[in-house]
Amino acid sequence: MLDQAQRLRQMAAGNKLDKKQSSPKIITVTSGKGGVGKSNFVVNLGLTLQKNGKKVLIFDADVGMGNDDVLLGFLPKYNVFDIIFNNKDIDDVIVTGPYGIKLLPGGSGITRVNEITNTQRNNFLDKLSKIEDLDYILMDTGAGINRSVLGFIACCDELIILTTPEPTSLMDAYSLIKAVVHFNIKSKAKVVINRTLDKNEGEETYKKFRTAVKTFLKIEVDYIGSVAEDKKLVQAVRSQKPFVIDSPNCEASQDILKISNKLLGIESSGTGVQGLFKKIFNIFS
Ligand SMILES: Nc1ncnc2c1ncn2[C@@H]1O[C@H](COP(=O)(O)OP(=O)(O)OP(=O)(O)O)[C@@H](O)[C@H]1O
Ligand SMILES: [Mg+2]
Repeated sequence: MLDQAQRLRQMAAGNKLDKKQSSPKIITVTSGKGGVGKSNFVVNLGLTLQKNGKKVLIFDADVGMGNDDVLLGFLPKYNVFDIIFNNKDIDDVIVTGPYGIKLLPGGSGITRVNEITNTQRNNFLDKLSKIEDLDYILMDTGAGINRSVLGFIACCDELIILTTPEPTSLMDAYSLIKAVVHFNIKSKAKVVINRTLDKNEGEETYKKFRTAVKTFLKIEVDYIGSVAEDKKLVQAVRSQKPFVIDSPNCEASQDILKISNKLLGIESSGTGVQGLFKKIFNIFS
């Protein structure tokens, strides 16, 4: 344990010398309710950022139930479990996709998440901390409020909560934010409204949501945009071709571009890979 902490401290110190090269901004995308569109959002936002010259790694942190590989049309040979259980090298597990985007697959149909020992987890974090030359790490979490999701939220530079305008999804997003406030995990969250039916629905939904949050919870929320309900997205999922590639001019693609531009416009330096994994290490140790 101490060795690991020492090593991470050394890496963090070394990181200061070359901050630009190894300080990716870590963005966690999550939701209260499942199935609201996180994975599609992460994959297509990642591709849009990458297309705009950024170096992006998508970490499918829905470990054991991941499907970002499917959305990208990949059939990866390995996943995060091979790093943890089979001592695979991280470079052999990360796959490279369109425009050079990188994906660390989460594996699906695997129920061994609870079997991971501390040593295995630390080895995994050690390997992850060696990834360099990235601008963004986008973490696509599973839905719901649990230790693992809250842990990923705690580790990121920015938290994006995705919800649809449906009251059920909004209620669950509210409960998630309430847990984040309760455990004092983050002081800020960005909100994206997915599957809006017209131009105003995103803004209107957000205003109502913000009113509820501001009245009862102590957290800063910030609206970063909406994504339209779009048939092209559904077609893209079926054909396993991300919609920003398959239909770059469709409504959803345009909306993702706006959000990407907004994120790029409000860029500040991130924690860095070492900083992130130092935090993860602290949580699990
Ligand atoms: N903007 C949209 N327009 C139309 N359909 C959408 C949109 N966003 C999501 N969907 C539909 O919702 C489905 C689920 O999306 P996705 O897999 O991205 O959700 P998720 O939040 O990652 O789910 P999980 O919680 O299970 O990981 C998509 O396959 C698609 O059919
Ligand atoms: Mg998903």
